[in-house]
Amino acid sequence: MLDDTTLAKRFWAENGRAPRIFSAPGRVNLIGDHTDYNDGYALPIAIGRRTVVAAAVRTDRKVRVRSLNVGQVEEFDLDRPWTPRPRGWLDYVEGVARAVSLGDSAFVGADLLIDSDVPLGAGLSSSAALEMSTGLALTSLAGKRVSPLDLALAAQSAEHDYVGTQCGIMDQLVAARGRRDRALLIDSRSFETKEVPCALPGAAIVLCDTKVKHELAASAYNQRRSECETSVSILRQRRPRVRALRDLSMEELLGDADMLPEPLFRRCRHVVSENARTLAAVRALQSEDCSALGALMLASHESLRSDYEVSCGELDRCVDIARAVRGAYGSRMTGGGFGGCTVTLVDANAVGQLIDALHSGFEATFQRRPDVFTVRACEGMKEHDAPGGAPL
Ligand code: GLA
Repeated sequence: MLDDTTLAKRFWAENGRAPRIFSAPGRVNLIGDHTDYNDGYALPIAIGRRTVVAAAVRTDRKVRVRSLNVGQVEEFDLDRPWTPRPRGWLDYVEGVARAVSLGDSAFVGADLLIDSDVPLGAGLSSSAALEMSTGLALTSLAGKRVSPLDLALAAQSAEHDYVGTQCGIMDQLVAARGRRDRALLIDSRSFETKEVPCALPGAAIVLCDTKVKHELAASAYNQRRSECETSVSILRQRRPRVRALRDLSMEELLGDADMLPEPLFRRCRHVVSENARTLAAVRALQSEDCSALGALMLASHESLRSDYEVSCGELDRCVDIARAVRGAYGSRMTGGGFGGCTVTLVDANAVGQLIDALHSGFEATFQRRPDVFTVRACEGMKEHDAPGGAPL
């Protein structure tokens, strides 16, 4: 990952002018998965891995993007219509660019140089980091004031309309509003966020990237979302006030179980119980009760595994290894699932043991090593100070 000065120099060498530099973080969700598109609650943190964009305006309406991660240069023209064919990573940039420039014929084009240390496909939301960093860069260069929420909604529409993932708002919102040493309680209905202190003295947050990326993850994700929507339309026959699964208590769900064929009942049970766990996790964080938070994380994993069926053997194995380590409070898969990472809350004195156990236990079962590393809550998207030493 290049530092800002080197990135700016590289930009200068390629484009003959000095860039401004913007960035947005990846995220890990502590608890509250597959709740956001049900108008529910999530509790993510922004992490220290970031996508950084060096950017300068052009005189035309083209956006020319070089990604150092994929080693490609691509471009699109805001004056030409989008062609609906999958273009991989460029769709995230183009989708957000088109959303923020919609109806603004004066919106300028830009040259962008992108670098990132958010691992791709690890469930740490490299896509939201890409959307939000380029969205912030493009709107700032165009002198257009867009609120963090509106930028997050534009990035979400890039996923819906250009990429084809019917995601919720969690990833984009925490990339926008993340804060150092704070988790963010997201209310996905009102888009309100509440900062919850998350410095947790004496504890650490450890991620284990299984490096499993399932081809079918996007279609399975969309299928889960549509199962939830089908459930709501069935439940509304008896309870018309229910607009989303967020509006349902566990008692009501159990009372209506006869209406829901399998697997819909289990899908709903996950969402309803996960919302309650997420609110309980906020209380545990506020009182720095790591044992309570850890127990909620384990229950969340079990629910995602058996009721929502979005885990996989590698994730389950990581959770099993972690929970057997003395000093580990709790562990769960995080994000959309079907691969990606687990997140574990562990006593600071047991971090080394946990990392060793995950390396050796995973290797014994799968004959390869996962990536294991600690994270802490970091700040959201921002413009960087002009790098020193870059030619002006
Ligand atoms: C993905 C989506 C989010 C959220 C999670 C699961 O990361 O982008 O909106 O639904 O999955 O919690």
